[in-house]
Amino acid sequence: MSVVQPGVGPIVVPSPLQLPELMLVEQKLADILGKAEGIIKDTCAGLLYAGGKRVRPLLTVCSGLCFGPLNMNMVFAAVAAELVHMASLVHDDVIDASQTRRGTATVNSRHGNSAAVLTGDYIFAEAFNILSSHRLITAMGYLVEAIKAMCDGEVNQAGELFALSVNPDKYFARIAKKTGILLAACCKSGAETGGGSEGEIEAMGEYGLNLGYAFQIVDDILDFTGTQEKLGKPVGLDVTNGNITLPVILLMDNPVYGNWVKEILSTRQINVTGVESIRQALQQAGSIEQSYAAAAKCVEKAKASLERIPAGRNKIMLLELADKVLQRQA
Ligand code: IPE
Ligand code: IPE
Ligand code: MG
Ligand code: MG
Repeated sequence: MSVVQPGVGPIVVPSPLQLPELMLVEQKLADILGKAEGIIKDTCAGLLYAGGKRVRPLLTVCSGLCFGPLNMNMVFAAVAAELVHMASLVHDDVIDASQTRRGTATVNSRHGNSAAVLTGDYIFAEAFNILSSHRLITAMGYLVEAIKAMCDGEVNQAGELFALSVNPDKYFARIAKKTGILLAACCKSGAETGGGSEGEIEAMGEYGLNLGYAFQIVDDILDFTGTQEKLGKPVGLDVTNGNITLPVILLMDNPVYGNWVKEILSTRQINVTGVESIRQALQQAGSIEQSYAAAAKCVEKAKASLERIPAGRNKIMLLELADKVLQRQA
């Protein structure tokens, strides 16, 4: 689905579910980021047109539509959620020193870290601009909580680089903060702007949190098994940077490969060959399969959270989206 806006090129709605209501979100994003000036205008345009899956707006709008017809508050909340996500990606690429995002050069690699920090700050500000100008105080509260959690999650990750003490409990706590709480915020603000009851908003939050666990586990698997072409971002970067994710945590517990991988991690210097040998060990030890099984459990929990949500097309889409997370390659 695409629409051409004068002067800004085609807007593509890349959602795998092609929810038509997302077109409005795309238009608002283009309007907002198009107003930036100077280098930030360029960096924002690059981010916008590079694509991205738009999972967060999709979750927001789809959650809202479970309770009532589309209204502009759902759209504004969805726009704010994608802006918060985009800003966090720009900052994350500085932290991870990543060169590619959404199939194009990152802001930090193209313009340096200062421009990336400022671009992220600018986009965060625009997220709060849209929320405050439309008095979306509840959605703002959810997103503030998510941003604080993302910062905590990143700080926690940075404090435990190459740490052999990282275990599944610590990992799950970290990925809730990095990813789950934002997805929960999207679902809750959608439900709230759509007129859901307190219990329904809470149930949507449970769905988003569990979907977030699955989404990040799969992201961490794809960092080993995926390709840069499909993902649009580098692979093998997590372990190279010392970010110990679920597949490696499970490998550390494996009777055959455990000590071997711990020794490699202790060197704190892992090159392309090292990543490749860890990838093979993960496959042979069954750690990739186990990680998918863990993600599948989260997907089941997410789907179960929707039990009390009214039946309909949008609930079906949320259930299908949960299953799609396990199959994603991008
Ligand atoms: C990337 O999110 C960051 C994670 C939480 C894993 P997405 O995979 O949704 O990134 P885009 O928006 O499609 O680029
Ligand atoms: C999610 O983690 C990042 C954020 C919380 C923004 P990753 O570092 O795995 O995300 P990617 O792989 O760079 O997209
Ligand atoms: Mg990253
Ligand atoms: Mg990743």
